[in-house]
Amino acid sequence: MSGWRCLICVSLFLTILLELTHQGPPGPPSSSTKLLMTSYSMRSTVVSRYAHTLVTSVLFNPHAEAHEAIFDLDLPRLAFISNFTMTINNKVYIAEIKEKHQAKKIYEEAHQQGKTAAHVGIRDRESEKFRISTSLAAGTEVTFSLAYEELLQRHQGQYQLVVSLRPGQLVTRLSIEVTVSERTGIGYVHVPPLRTSRLRTNTHTSEAGPPPATRIEKGETCVRVTFCPTLKDQAAFSSSGIMADFVVQYDVIMEDIIGDVQIYDGHFIHYFAPRGLPPVEKNVVFVIDVSGSMFGTKMKQTKKAMNVILGDLRANDYFNIISFSDTVSVWKTGGSIQATIQNVHSAKDYLSHMEADGWTDINTALLAAASVLNHSNQEPGRGSSVGRIPLIIFLTDGEPTAGVTTPSVILSNVRQALDNRVALFSLAFGDDADFPLLRRLSLENRGAARRIYEDTDAALQLQGLYEEISMPLLADVRLDYLGGLVGASPWALFPNYFGGSELVVAGLVQPGEQELGIHLAARGPKGQLLVARHSEVATNSSQKAFGCPGEPAPNVAHFIRRLWAYVTIGELLEARFRARDTTTRHLLAAKVLNLSLEYNFVTPLTSLVMVQPKEASEKARRQTSTTAGPGTIMPSSTSRHGLGAGTARPTWCPRSLLNQGL
Ligand SMILES: *[C@@H]1O[C@H](CO)[C@@H](O)[C@H](O)[C@H]1NC(C)=O
Ligand SMILES: *[C@@H]1O[C@H](CO)[C@@H](O)[C@H](O)[C@H]1NC(C)=O
Ligand SMILES: *[C@@H]1O[C@H](CO)[C@@H](O)[C@H](O)[C@H]1NC(C)=O
Ligand SMILES: *[C@@H]1O[C@H](CO)[C@@H](O)[C@H](O)[C@H]1NC(C)=O
Repeated sequence: MSGWRCLICVSLFLTILLELTHQGPPGPPSSSTKLLMTSYSMRSTVVSRYAHTLVTSVLFNPHAEAHEAIFDLDLPRLAFISNFTMTINNKVYIAEIKEKHQAKKIYEEAHQQGKTAAHVGIRDRESEKFRISTSLAAGTEVTFSLAYEELLQRHQGQYQLVVSLRPGQLVTRLSIEVTVSERTGIGYVHVPPLRTSRLRTNTHTSEAGPPPATRIEKGETCVRVTFCPTLKDQAAFSSSGIMADFVVQYDVIMEDIIGDVQIYDGHFIHYFAPRGLPPVEKNVVFVIDVSGSMFGTKMKQTKKAMNVILGDLRANDYFNIISFSDTVSVWKTGGSIQATIQNVHSAKDYLSHMEADGWTDINTALLAAASVLNHSNQEPGRGSSVGRIPLIIFLTDGEPTAGVTTPSVILSNVRQALDNRVALFSLAFGDDADFPLLRRLSLENRGAARRIYEDTDAALQLQGLYEEISMPLLADVRLDYLGGLVGASPWALFPNYFGGSELVVAGLVQPGEQELGIHLAARGPKGQLLVARHSEVATNSSQKAFGCPGEPAPNVAHFIRRLWAYVTIGELLEARFRARDTTTRHLLAAKVLNLSLEYNFVTPLTSLVMVQPKEASEKARRQTSTTAGPGTIMPSSTSRHGLGAGTARPTWCPRSLLNQGL
């Protein structure tokens, strides 16, 4: 490593960051030292829900002395960084993805040698913050380019792409360009006004229209949105420019109940999101923490959200409420009752009398919920509750402090009591909640865990998360893939499918395999079995391309391959989290590391490093190796115009496609 010099090291130690508690964002740089941002562009290309976003920022130092140039960006929570480059004096420096500890070592060595080095990563409520700074000589210019990738998730019947636009000043050339290509067709597209707060407003499609300077062009399988606010438009937002999220919402058309299967180059992706199914009735038990730490704002917010949630229950649903601290109170000890207007009214009354006090007995509370659900399912007089999907919504803001407090014992007790029949969704309210425990509890019991951030909109966050799971459509979804699959098991199991969401399966098919059969079996309303079959032919170059006319057809195979890696890494990370023995965990970690390095992703096991080779001759060496060698920077004579959204476009705003037949 000694022959290599670290110019700037970027390290995003995401595993560490994920354990960090919420911190505020860094303050803005003081205006006296501000550099001039001459251009800021963001370009997102979405193909089959998989989004690749490139952000390019150009800063000029007009001062007589060197100044710090800072590049700040909020990344979506589920995105992986896939490239970072910096161009100074026509030299392009490309950061490399390295195994995390190796990256840290390179960074520390450089630091010890007194080199300029900086890395900051701060976890925010809905995003990861990326920040890098470099010293910029007087009269020079730097171009930062960051690429990241993510799979857009379907919630409440729509996909949402959010790009964070926070240049921190007025910018002469500011542009956002979003292109969406979906082969089964795009049902609708909506661009709401710029979103200034991080409120979870995604649950309600706002009627208000897009910000000025937005152009939306929609074809059958393609949407193109551009946003190029002038200095005047930006100043109208605020004197220091735009500080907001630009949001594009859309949904795809999907007529086949089996969904959409795409097979390219030995990789397949299956999107399963049947429309128009009737909801399955549910039996939901709300388990609410009323320990001392909930006192005050949190309790108020919980009550506010619960009032709305109870009001939204369907008349045929059954429900019950359990509140717990060191003692546990069950509202209807005889089991869940039907959500009639009267019963909901009396539940709201019960809720209004809850008071926060005492310790936290998670174990007893969850066992009480299990017993209430067992009870409702067995009593003959309540026969109508059979066939309902049993759900527990468990909200807590703390760690177990009363009763059984050993996590492994709680886990095993709950697993046994819920018997793989009940879906447990956990909501960790605030930073003091034991999120790893909640996540494990939910993953082991057919559910998922989410965080509620302590903020003024906590009640809305809670409602939003509940809405995502409020309408179960199918249970025990089993998808079998018939035909030569490679590697992992040839089927996928999902405990539940909720209205407005989407299930995604990724896999590998044998080389040369021309066809993939899919078989679906799931339980619908009243426990009825739903079965369907479908067979899909592998796509090859002779088949019709989709996307925007007048644009080069999207390289779908490339997107599907990367999407496969993205989904597979996510699954391996989850399997690693769930694994109980260290050998399995190590093996899974090794697989994640291999894939992350191969696909150039910053995942919890990798970091970005930027190193400069001592001699240019090293350049050739790097170019012949495909995976990580010991560090690189590739100085090349590419000008800054060779990077980013401006490429091959005469004006800074991306051109219209209208005259291309869109
Ligand atoms: C990163 O971006 C640079 C500049 O555009 C490009 O030359 C390089 O191939 C990219 N690296 C990867 C792994 O995509
Ligand atoms: C609920 O029923 C299941 C299966 O009948 C049983 O294994 C479990 O112990 C019961 N749980 C409680 C809390 O009664
Ligand atoms: C490409 O797809 C078409 C239509 O599905 C099929 O007829 C043809 O044999 C395929 N060609 C190759 C080389 O796989
Ligand atoms: C990871 O890659 C290395 C080198 O290519 C290989 O030897 C190893 O078996 C791979 N590990 C896993 C778990 O795939």
